Amino acid sequence: MALKVAPSMLASDLARLADEAQRMEQAGADWLHIDIMDGRFVPNITMGIPVVQSLRKHTRLPLDIHLMVQEPERYVERFAEAGGDYIVVHAEATTHLHRTLQQVRATGKKAGVALNPATPLSAIEHVLDELDLLTIMSVNPGFGGQKFIPGALPKVEHAAKLLGPRLGRVELEVDGGVTVQNAPACRSAGASVLVAGTSVFGAPDAREAIAHIRGRA
Ligand code: DX5
Ligand code: ZN
Repeated sequence: MALKVAPSMLASDLARLADEAQRMEQAGADWLHIDIMDGRFVPNITMGIPVVQSLRKHTRLPLDIHLMVQEPERYVERFAEAGGDYIVVHAEATTHLHRTLQQVRATGKKAGVALNPATPLSAIEHVLDELDLLTIMSVNPGFGGQKFIPGALPKVEHAAKLLGPRLGRVELEVDGGVTVQNAPACRSAGASVLVAGTSVFGAPDAREAIAHIRGRA
């Protein structure tokens, strides 16, 4: 199964979002990762529903909507309508995770769960059948450009075991501080999608950075 690379648009020039999305598309990105922050679940505020709606018209790539939002169930339908393909909620942010995942699937979109570095994998043990994507955070969410937390690697390995035969149908994503240097370790731990912000947008050649992260130099 080919590894996917999802550039995090948070690291792009946000005033030129459509151009940046097209640049990533041309550079070989598989998905676009969109970081939605509400200033409550995380200290930062980024973009919202109208931005996703506008961006949708400018790219054909799947949009991976990472909701760093308290009570994401309040916004699931609106992000789905705006054009998200994967709607990813944090297990720590929603009381009724099982219901929230069903709510995502009811929109016809793919349902994802993200886990903070301190959150154990047991948080998703009983919702495996409702999952299309699992995101292991390798930084504490809130900001781009942070350092990769090495403890995420054994967690990804455990997650791959927990997903077992589901892996493949369920994507296993690593998000935060992914670089050309640590991407091979993420891949061998079992990741199927790598999110990369700073290491792609900060690179002199985005196409080369994406190819290296994917492991095809
Ligand atoms: C962190 C976000 C990440 C981040 C990735 O809160 O969820 O998606 O923007 O960016 P880098 O690769 O710069 O850590
Ligand atoms: Zn993210």
